[in-house]
Amino acid sequence: MRGFTTLVWALPALVAGQKPQYPPAFPANPILPSSINYAPSVTPNVMDPTAPNAQVVCPGYIASSIEETTTGLTADLALAGPACSAYGNDIKDLTLSVQYQSKERLAVKIYPKHLAPSNQSLYILSPSLTPQPEVQYGSSKSASDLQFTWTNSPSFQFRVSRASSGDVIFDTYGHKLVFEDQFLELVTDMVPDYNIYGLPENLRGFRIPNNFTQTFWNAYNLDNDQELDVNSHSVHPVYLETRYGNGSSLSHGVYARNAHGQEWLMRDSSITYRTIGGSFDLYFLSGSKPADVISQYQTGIVNTPYLPAYWHLGFQQVRWGYQNWTNLQDVVDAYAAQNIQLEGVMSDLDYLKVNRDFTNNPGHYDIEPGKEFLERLHANGQHYMPILDPNIYVPDPTNFSDAYPTYDRGVELNAYIRDSNASYYIGVLWPGFSVSPDFITPQAHQFWTEQIIAYHENLAFDGFWLDVNDATSFCTGSCGQGRIEENPIHYPLAFPGDANTSVAVDYRFPEMFNVTNATEAASASSAMMSQSIMYPTPSATPTPTVGRTLATPGVRNLTYPPYAINNFLPGHSLQKQVISPDATHNDGPFNSTEYELHNLYGHTSGNATYNALKAVTPGKRPFFINRSTFSGSGNFSGHWGGDTNSKWGNMYFGISQALQFSIAGITYFGVETCGFNGNADMELCTRWMQLSAWFPLYRNHNNRNTIAQEAYRWATTAEATRRIMNFRYSLLPYSYTLFHRANVAGETVLRALAWEFPDDASLKAVETQFMSGPALLVTPVLAPLATSVQGVFPGVAEGTIWYDLYTLQKVNAAAGENKTLDAPLVHQPIHVRGGYIVPMQSAGNTTKTSRTSPWSLIVALDKNGQAKGELYLDDGISLAPNATKNVEFSFTNNTVHATVSGEYNDGLPLANITIAGISSHTHRVSVSLGGKACNSRGAKFDHSNGGVLSITGLQHATSGGAWSGDLTVELQ
Ligand code: GLC
Repeated sequence: MRGFTTLVWALPALVAGQKPQYPPAFPANPILPSSINYAPSVTPNVMDPTAPNAQVVCPGYIASSIEETTTGLTADLALAGPACSAYGNDIKDLTLSVQYQSKERLAVKIYPKHLAPSNQSLYILSPSLTPQPEVQYGSSKSASDLQFTWTNSPSFQFRVSRASSGDVIFDTYGHKLVFEDQFLELVTDMVPDYNIYGLPENLRGFRIPNNFTQTFWNAYNLDNDQELDVNSHSVHPVYLETRYGNGSSLSHGVYARNAHGQEWLMRDSSITYRTIGGSFDLYFLSGSKPADVISQYQTGIVNTPYLPAYWHLGFQQVRWGYQNWTNLQDVVDAYAAQNIQLEGVMSDLDYLKVNRDFTNNPGHYDIEPGKEFLERLHANGQHYMPILDPNIYVPDPTNFSDAYPTYDRGVELNAYIRDSNASYYIGVLWPGFSVSPDFITPQAHQFWTEQIIAYHENLAFDGFWLDVNDATSFCTGSCGQGRIEENPIHYPLAFPGDANTSVAVDYRFPEMFNVTNATEAASASSAMMSQSIMYPTPSATPTPTVGRTLATPGVRNLTYPPYAINNFLPGHSLQKQVISPDATHNDGPFNSTEYELHNLYGHTSGNATYNALKAVTPGKRPFFINRSTFSGSGNFSGHWGGDTNSKWGNMYFGISQALQFSIAGITYFGVETCGFNGNADMELCTRWMQLSAWFPLYRNHNNRNTIAQEAYRWATTAEATRRIMNFRYSLLPYSYTLFHRANVAGETVLRALAWEFPDDASLKAVETQFMSGPALLVTPVLAPLATSVQGVFPGVAEGTIWYDLYTLQKVNAAAGENKTLDAPLVHQPIHVRGGYIVPMQSAGNTTKTSRTSPWSLIVALDKNGQAKGELYLDDGISLAPNATKNVEFSFTNNTVHATVSGEYNDGLPLANITIAGISSHTHRVSVSLGGKACNSRGAKFDHSNGGVLSITGLQHATSGGAWSGDLTVELQ
């Protein structure tokens, strides 16, 4: 058994059936009957062979009154025959608007011609909710990369093609347009074996299969949040398509700006796009390389990702079950004792008084000891981020001691979502019956900001992670109506860790645990069996299946729309475990419902939280991660990938998930390292700590009813973590520069190999390796019991050189070779690409101390003996820093050049330069800074590592700050 250490202490307790001792959340309260979760089941259309085919039964539209301008055209579209009422009421008259918005972007919009103010919001997604790009000044049809063509025979159809080649990239010819109030459909033909990517959020392969249905309806499943291939916490209707041919490739993008429940049916030769409302608001991006498409989407449509503060790039620890400040302090101390970097700790619900927002759990998380804890933490350059849930407990009005001023303030401001009958919509979340702030209204923003500011005045926390904003509710409908006196109630299922329930202890372990830890695995499995016999999972209340709801003239069925999307929750109902679609917002004449806005609750609550955090620390970049996101959320929030399972498969798909979010512009993404549900073991946790070290958000999070999994729990995990964190922290300047490029130009931090080497078709589905920026290739170990891993080295056929980052020795790989690399447990293969200069600082114990180390450069030479790189610097925290610095590096003619612009100066010298792939010998350098010669006599030269020149002792030459002027270091 390799490296097995601390688990030994935990397991006897587990297998003896004891669970970790947590204070009960609801000492005296009954668990609500599961009938409160009742919602009739539906058969999703994609599973229903009897469902009508809108392409067959519907008439399509005919275009007339075409008006062309230099930037596009408009036309009327009229229903071409009797209404088909396939899944709603056909809209007879539509408007078509085609806009050549910029050289690279074409917009095609189709919406009802007659819109009254009262029904506008049903069809038009307001630009106040998510950006809606306009025609850019100077654009025209003649200057566009893209071309729109259409026909009326036999009904209105259109194509989008590349102006230069005529290649069709979107093709509805041969298919009908369907536009009903609760159902829209568009079909595009696809090339054989098409390669599309994106459409987050989903736990699936990187390249979307050609026989796959992507459902979009934000949802949370407490029992198994990380099911493969199903709808999840976020909706980003954007994909990237790459077509290969003749040793080259062309990529384009498609974004469908619609927040309704929807489905994308990827089929052999077509994609069918269906939504249950809204309009067609389509954007086509010409690319023509993947990086161009991604940048065009982010810079031109949804806005680029925010720039995280420097400290956000440090490692964070959280778990549900840290019971008090002392517990948190112990974790902080244990990381320090083990010499593992820790930038922040987070609290889960444990810190709250009976799970109510903006309170503190008495006797566990009192304010005064909290202040002391925070003072110590901040003095160490560390941070504290508690959880926040966007639901507000409704106090029992008959119980004076249950008073909750936060709730009262929301009532005073009229800040909560309503039930359709005008009272508040009362669902169930962790605190019991709760209401939800209506974040599309200004009063909810005011309420939220006030609460957050007031809470921060008590306790100077450093940011939030906003959870369950899917928008979750654990009952069906406004179930608290008429029974608030029962509050605080326990939500209708058992909490993980609740005594005497089937989830008291989670006995699940990763695959192969039975091989590495046979005895423990056997005990865990029999304990699991006894627990399930003793406390069987209560069977769900049987729900009748409602047949297909038929379209009723003039009526919109919000809770059971005629087209049933394949929501993965049991019974598929849209009401399941979310605020019901008929809940009503307070937006004046519109009275928008959750039907239109459900998929935006995460986005709007996230935006309100981000703005409130900005108000808390004016001028500074808030730490904010959001569980549920929509197109555009990346401009203000990061995201974590849901309740991951402690399984190798979950770890594996985290890479594809991260790449999906790179496309979507959510750069600050990470998954729950070591897994949230189920127990981690030493091996999985070791490999996962290594993998996540490359994810922008690096946090370890764990459920209440599982064994501890902090990085110091197993000696081998601790050692592997120290090694990989040494890289992560040394590379902070490189990563921060990538984030800056993402922020200013829509570039990505985590990258698919297929994006960096876009013409190599063999990379189109690679999801086991990825790149961090343009220079670093990561080949993680993703399987148990492995001591080696296979990986490809792209570009070698064209002369790309790769160096092992640990030794800086050249990799000897043939083109296309799947090379076996040594990967003992404490080692993760990382390679640097020839042609790149990587700025580094040696790792301190926090990002703050790391920033005070002298500079060093790795110069990895390409086949021509050249390299380039860049560095961005600022104070790392201000929203609008008053000084910045950009450094452009190059290595040519045996000279390192650093060309600087901007005023920021950290005053740190350049101490070391390591050059990989150099054959000439050097014994002297001449250094000049800002045009003045510097004294470089302290420099030392080491050639002992074949092909590598290591120059040290340069710091005296640039002691006033290496980037205070243009710098050259000439090798002589
Ligand atoms: C949700 C979150 C998880 C959190 C739990 C309790 O499951 O995704 O991170 O620990 O709620 O707050």
